[in-house]
Amino acid sequence: MTRLVVLGATGSIGASALDVAAELGDRLTVTGLACRSDWQGLAELAARWRPAAVAIEDEAAWKAAGGADAFPSGTEVLAGSSGVAELAAHGDADIVLNGIVGAAGLGPTLSALEAGRRVALANKESLVVGGDLVMQHAREPGRLLPVDSEHNAIWQLLEGRDRARVARVVLTASGGPFRATPRERLAGVTPQEALAHPTWSMGPKVTVDSATLANKGLEVIEAHHLFGLDYDEIDVVIHPQSIVHGLVELVDGTLFAELGPPDMRAPIRAALTWPDRVPVGRRTDLTALGGLTFERPDPHRFPMLALAREAGRAGGTAPAVFNAANEVAVEAFLRGAIGFLDIPAICDRVLAAHDARPARTVEDLLAADAWARAMAAGPAHSGTRAAGVG
Ligand SMILES: NC(=O)c1ccc[n+]([C@@H]2O[C@H](COP(=O)([O-])OP(=O)(O)OC[C@H]3O[C@@H](n4cnc5c(N)ncnc54)[C@H](OP(=O)(O)O)[C@@H]3O)[C@@H](O)[C@H]2O)c1
Repeated sequence: MTRLVVLGATGSIGASALDVAAELGDRLTVTGLACRSDWQGLAELAARWRPAAVAIEDEAAWKAAGGADAFPSGTEVLAGSSGVAELAAHGDADIVLNGIVGAAGLGPTLSALEAGRRVALANKESLVVGGDLVMQHAREPGRLLPVDSEHNAIWQLLEGRDRARVARVVLTASGGPFRATPRERLAGVTPQEALAHPTWSMGPKVTVDSATLANKGLEVIEAHHLFGLDYDEIDVVIHPQSIVHGLVELVDGTLFAELGPPDMRAPIRAALTWPDRVPVGRRTDLTALGGLTFERPDPHRFPMLALAREAGRAGGTAPAVFNAANEVAVEAFLRGAIGFLDIPAICDRVLAAHDARPARTVEDLLAADAWARAMAAGPAHSGTRAAGVG
């Protein structure tokens, strides 16, 4: 029986992970659940799953919950970001599924890995911000199980393959709701329009990231760390149907693809049951998948992809800075403080002002993250193309 901890249990990935847990029945038991502030949602999940422990990152929410009173008796309740990191290393869990959104996921990822847990990773920001540190703990096969659908696809395609024969990997992107929107209209698009993703149903931050293509940029950095590939070996193609999740091309030109309907339960199932395969009792109707088309991403309308590559190539603290600037800009866009095109403008400005330094410790990364958040929230500098969010 696999003992599972779900971080970000009240979110979109958390819900899909718990669907898979329900489907797996006796093969799996949930021993821990964590959220940021949605203590009511967490209490409902705790009543259903009876974990040994839960964690709430937001201490004010924990107090509002009445401390441990909202949870089944016998459930240990941990609070604060240290409580979430503690839960990631708590008890005797086998796998920690990290479905936290944003750079806040890095600490719990490291905590779980340092405690010897396997980590099923949806939180791509862990690898974007702290890829070198995370991978130091995750070289052994099966320690880091990619949940992001593209990386899960490529991980499955690479398994057992001689890396010397791999020429490149290709990440697919849906293109988001503005795939065909002219640049002059992008300045005025609303958060509601950006949140209307054509193929995937996800949390707000990753949905906006999909609309700007920042998501694919973050995923390029994630793939660089996960698979030990150079940036030149990681391509991106727009595939509006979101049926092909990832491809691997060998040196002789043979191209392998992983296909399936856009449903995060499939990569989560593959990660949680690795190296086994569980029967799902159904077959995919290929004729229902429709046509598959591929396009090149447009760098003029979607500059976030190139900015992410620039940050990835610079390495050190640069990806953490890009990520933090993006998190601040997306939050500002969602509350209506800035326009859609201000998101890349802010990331461009903050990245241009940053001198990338080696990131040897978590403290180096946290300092870079904090600097970038302050820069992104500040007024635009003269002489740059960018806006501020203040
Ligand atoms: N959704 C998808 O289909 C999908 C696909 C691929 C990859 N991903 C990646 O998976 C991650 C989660 O995405 P999502 O769409 O599931 O996000 P989401 O729906 O917004 O859920 C985020 C979850 O993280 C929790 N959380 C946020 N900040 C936290 C903190 N500081 N400490 C502890 N918990 C915290 C939230 O708790 P509250 O509910 O209390 O706020 C919530 O449970 C992201 O990195 C995303 O890029 C998502």
